[in-house]
Amino acid sequence: MVKRTDPYIPGEQLEQEGLIKLNTNENPYPPSPSVIQAIQEEMKRNLQRYPSPSADELRNTIAESFSLSKKNVFVGNGSDEVLAFAFMAFFEPGKPILFPDVTYSFYPVYAKLFHIPYEQVRLNDDFSLPVEQFFQSAGGVILPNPNAPTGLYEELDQIERIVQENKGRVVIIDEAYIDFAPTSAARLVQTYDNLLIVQTMSKSRSLAGLRVGFAMGSESLIEGLTRIKDSFNSYPVDRLALAGAKAAFEDSEHFSNTTNAILSTRERVIPQLRSLGFSVLPSAANFVFVKHDSLDGRTLYEQLKARKILIRHFDSPRISDFIRITIGTNEQMDTFLDELSLILSSASTVHP
Ligand SMILES: Cc1ncc(COP(=O)(O)O)c(C=O)c1O
Repeated sequence: MVKRTDPYIPGEQLEQEGLIKLNTNENPYPPSPSVIQAIQEEMKRNLQRYPSPSADELRNTIAESFSLSKKNVFVGNGSDEVLAFAFMAFFEPGKPILFPDVTYSFYPVYAKLFHIPYEQVRLNDDFSLPVEQFFQSAGGVILPNPNAPTGLYEELDQIERIVQENKGRVVIIDEAYIDFAPTSAARLVQTYDNLLIVQTMSKSRSLAGLRVGFAMGSESLIEGLTRIKDSFNSYPVDRLALAGAKAAFEDSEHFSNTTNAILSTRERVIPQLRSLGFSVLPSAANFVFVKHDSLDGRTLYEQLKARKILIRHFDSPRISDFIRITIGTNEQMDTFLDELSLILSSASTVHP
């Protein structure tokens, strides 16, 4: 009677007092004050009316900031929804798609839900992308750049090769963390009609609570997404989210200040983690993926949780020894590092 699925398991969203939350890659800084103001003004206006089904104003703002046209932009209720629409629009039963074996765990969930066969390409031992293995897919490709949960970034020319070698199939690059990395592939959407870039306002734009994601691609890909949206929910992005997201895009100063603060905290924390005995993968994201030379990932997760610090541990092949730590404020990271040192020194006293 009830359809069986294997749902995605999101990171814990505990509301406990005093908790330091470093588990779901949210921004530690609040959004720009102009976002709050825009939402408040919108609240007084037209809440009794449906929002724009085509989200024209927000799409225009996003398009301008990427030097694209509105026809190249689609917006949805978080990038998870945009990704789900993209699976429905571009991938087909009977034609296996490719994605990495260590990657965002929503991809296999969507593939199963929409009956799309998939092959998981094994990342190299250092978790870098074996680029050629994504060439000539039967049904398309999806991969995050930077990858999650590893944080590794792949250079733009390599992403371009994957797009070129999949003519006639859609390549989706999920750029949830691109604002913490060198270069977006968004500039390639005018050259390649099979490339879809998906981004989110949940991370670098401090709006995880508002749920806004967007895609950029050729007009025909955007039309495909729109057809799916209109077969599902005409108004996925509400009035407050449209107003807040537009204001966030317009405050580029707040965006660059908060992004730079996170990058400088990340670069400060990495050597400190190394000196505590961690191997740290090179991160181009707002999180670090690390492994300790003596304590395993689950133990670290549990002991930090007992000290009111939440980080993410994945009980999955190849990465169960790792933990993923979102970069918080300097103060949060100092508390985290202090607690971590205490955990490690008491572990080395118990097991000399
Ligand atoms: C790689 C990746 N893609 C997409 C998302 C979804 O983001 P949202 O639905 O908040 O836009 C996440 C969230 O953690 C992510 O890590």
